[in-house]
Amino acid sequence: MTIDTGKVYRLEDYRTSDYAIRATHLVFRLDPRHARVTATLSVERREDTAFDAPLVLDGDGLKLLSVALDGTRLTAQDYSAAPDQLTVARLPKGPFTLVIETELAPEANSALMGLYLSNGVYCTQCEAEGFRRITYFLDRPDVMSVYTVRIEAPKATAPILLSNGNPVESGDLEDGWHYAVWHDPHLKPSYLFALVAGDLGKITDGFTTRSGRAVELGIYVEKGKEARAAYAMDALKRSMHWDEDVFGLEYDLDVFNIVAVSDFNMGAMENKGLNIFNDKYVLADEETATDADFANIEAIIAHEYFHNWTGNRITCRDWFQLCLKEGLTVFRDHEFSADMRSRAVKRIAEVRTLKSLQFPEDQGPLAHPVRPRRYREINNFYTATVYEKGSEVVRMIRTILGADTFRRGMDLYFERHDGDAATIEDFLKVFEDVSGRDLSQFALWYHQAGTPHVSISAAYDEARGELTLDIEQSVPPTPSESRKRLMHIPLAIGLVGQDGSDLEAVSADGSFVDGLIHLKKRRQVVRFAGLSQRPAVSLNRGFSAPVTLASEQSVDDRLFLARHDSDLVARWQALNGLLCDYLIETSKTPVRQSNMTGRLAEVLGAIAADDTLEPAYRALALTPPSEADVAREIGSNIDPDAIHDARDALIDAIAAANRQSFEALYGELEDTDSFSSDAQSAGRRALRNVLLDYASAARRTPELAAGQYCQATNMTERAAALAVLAHRFASEPLSVSALADFETRHADNPLVLDKWFQIQATIPGDAALSRVEKLTRHGAFSIGNPNRVRSLIGTFASSNQTGFHRADGAGYRFFADRIIEVEKRNPQVAARLATAFRSWRSLEPGRQELARVELARIVAVPGLSTDLKDIVDRTLA
Ligand code: TRP
Ligand code: ZN
Repeated sequence: MTIDTGKVYRLEDYRTSDYAIRATHLVFRLDPRHARVTATLSVERREDTAFDAPLVLDGDGLKLLSVALDGTRLTAQDYSAAPDQLTVARLPKGPFTLVIETELAPEANSALMGLYLSNGVYCTQCEAEGFRRITYFLDRPDVMSVYTVRIEAPKATAPILLSNGNPVESGDLEDGWHYAVWHDPHLKPSYLFALVAGDLGKITDGFTTRSGRAVELGIYVEKGKEARAAYAMDALKRSMHWDEDVFGLEYDLDVFNIVAVSDFNMGAMENKGLNIFNDKYVLADEETATDADFANIEAIIAHEYFHNWTGNRITCRDWFQLCLKEGLTVFRDHEFSADMRSRAVKRIAEVRTLKSLQFPEDQGPLAHPVRPRRYREINNFYTATVYEKGSEVVRMIRTILGADTFRRGMDLYFERHDGDAATIEDFLKVFEDVSGRDLSQFALWYHQAGTPHVSISAAYDEARGELTLDIEQSVPPTPSESRKRLMHIPLAIGLVGQDGSDLEAVSADGSFVDGLIHLKKRRQVVRFAGLSQRPAVSLNRGFSAPVTLASEQSVDDRLFLARHDSDLVARWQALNGLLCDYLIETSKTPVRQSNMTGRLAEVLGAIAADDTLEPAYRALALTPPSEADVAREIGSNIDPDAIHDARDALIDAIAAANRQSFEALYGELEDTDSFSSDAQSAGRRALRNVLLDYASAARRTPELAAGQYCQATNMTERAAALAVLAHRFASEPLSVSALADFETRHADNPLVLDKWFQIQATIPGDAALSRVEKLTRHGAFSIGNPNRVRSLIGTFASSNQTGFHRADGAGYRFFADRIIEVEKRNPQVAARLATAFRSWRSLEPGRQELARVELARIVAVPGLSTDLKDIVDRTLA
């Protein structure tokens, strides 16, 4: 564990390395406690480097065995070695070879960075700075090298030996050992290095690229789980096709391997030719995975595959440029999923994720630009801002330039920068070059933190048939950026006529083109002339800009848009906004029933029954904003209990008003066909599950959910029924027995038990804490496994508003204790958990103080890691 030193890295301090490492030859002799790594580095001084410049290599907790320079073993006078650095001075003027031997203990590596053991399988995770935990190296993305890797291991425990690139050679050694050699011809940074060795099961398939390269595809999983990798393989082949069709990009090696491991800090990793995955994002079949799991697998398989071009072929100059690969690759996987499924439904899901994960980040103490200028710990910048807002910025470039020009820009990007370690400036420049536009104001989306706010007021002049939109922007201050510049905000707008169709919209001064207003000034007035009727204004269509919006629209207009807007994303936004405003109001002044309650119940009833709408859309529309969504919109002095009660009351009212029709539709949607994971079938299941919750709320009895639980033929139905039972009827025998049944039924499948942990972690109320505490002592729980920790403890903090935010602070205390406990093994996972405290200042004063005390208690722990210290310091600042 790296103990915090307080050192800050700054973008403006970037300079190239003094030396280049042209070739890297690695030999691994694997052993749980005494693994040996011999690194042979072909090093060259860069042109501008002084002759006496020492070679300073990065390390992290390394044990050095020996160093040799051009065949001569060095003595301690020739170099200085520490666990985190190796410095060699007095170097030859010309190219030289350095051989470094280190010893590792993979078994003791609980941080899951570098070389570690997961369930007996050796694997590596090097992004961002894990390679330095394997050997001393210039561990930075702009140092790119050709890798050759030889792995030696006992044949019995590690029959499978994998690394990047193509297999070259393999054979037997003495004493039951064997070896394999892999060679990756593509230059790559150290963070893309990977090795896997173990006893794994495998499925294979093939793909021929459009230029005729035959690629062998392999997915490696725990033995016995091979059948559950079929969906991932299918998603991989579809991803390969799609990247050829949509971006003209082909795969570039003879093999592409994916390995699923059960201990993994994040979702997955795009190592060249050898993607390593959290097994949660590979393994799926109808009995063990929900439709959401299938969709995630499809998206993440695609994401990592797409990195081969956006990340690997063109990598980042430094870690400040992380969004160059992540934002762009998220955009690409979003587009892929939109093409595979329903575009509108996918877009709404993206907007929901952005609002629930990125907005609170951007509006709280951890706010940072999509391209940050400072960091203490880069691991803490794999954020929703870099990923999701980074993707939104790419989407806005396409919106502004149009799809064709955008594609030409992407083509130029690949042509100009293939093989480079590039920057955001390089990326923006290709779009300026192909379009002839100046994107300097637009570039603020990369440089300036905070969610821009847009307020709009509309005035209609009946006599003249003229609509005037008065639009203003502001960007709120964020940490270390108190003064903001004005942004270029592409705002898609439509004018909806009384029959629901879009009116021809012409602005007098041409400031409205192709449905888009380019808001660039603080205030802009746009006039639409020649209207024959007063339109309802559909705002930020398709969520064209990631902004918060305030507009003075009548409830009638909003209800009208919620039913008739031709843009489904804006239609959903209109409805969601109404529901959210209602919840804000009723959480402050509880009402049993009002005129508005009835109108909302009625519109939801109409949407549920509207079979011109896809079931998946209807399911989204019928799902009221979450408690966290409402809390975010309220913004300050939050009382989570009041929000919970308001939301419960709204659901009850909707359920009561639509009782017959919801139950009837629930019955009609029963699936009698055999299971299919496709989007249409998943949409029907999603709608049916939302209706199950309403119907159960109306009946106030668990029978319906218990029935669905027992008759379920797939995990989507079963898990949803269990959630309704647990959340609505926690103490009823039917709920208790269903939870027990699920536990025994899936006792041998940790990924499925994660769902069981999650469902219980989100049961609302004061009893939640003791329930979660008890589950931390369950045999299937393990504080060392990130998936278990996130499912039980992470879910409790992020998704159980009443449980976590208990008024007595016991939820915070428990959570802080777990963070401290996890940190000892895995600082990265602990730091990520701790971000659940990020909105503490928005709470009412009592809870705020209790949260502050716990944050202060964490900071006071001696010898804190950089990961956790950085997050907690910024959260408290
Ligand atoms: N590059 C990975 C992705 O987005 C992210 C990742 C996987 C990661 N494992 C990590 C980042 C460990 C930091 C640390 O696809
Ligand atoms: Zn990524």
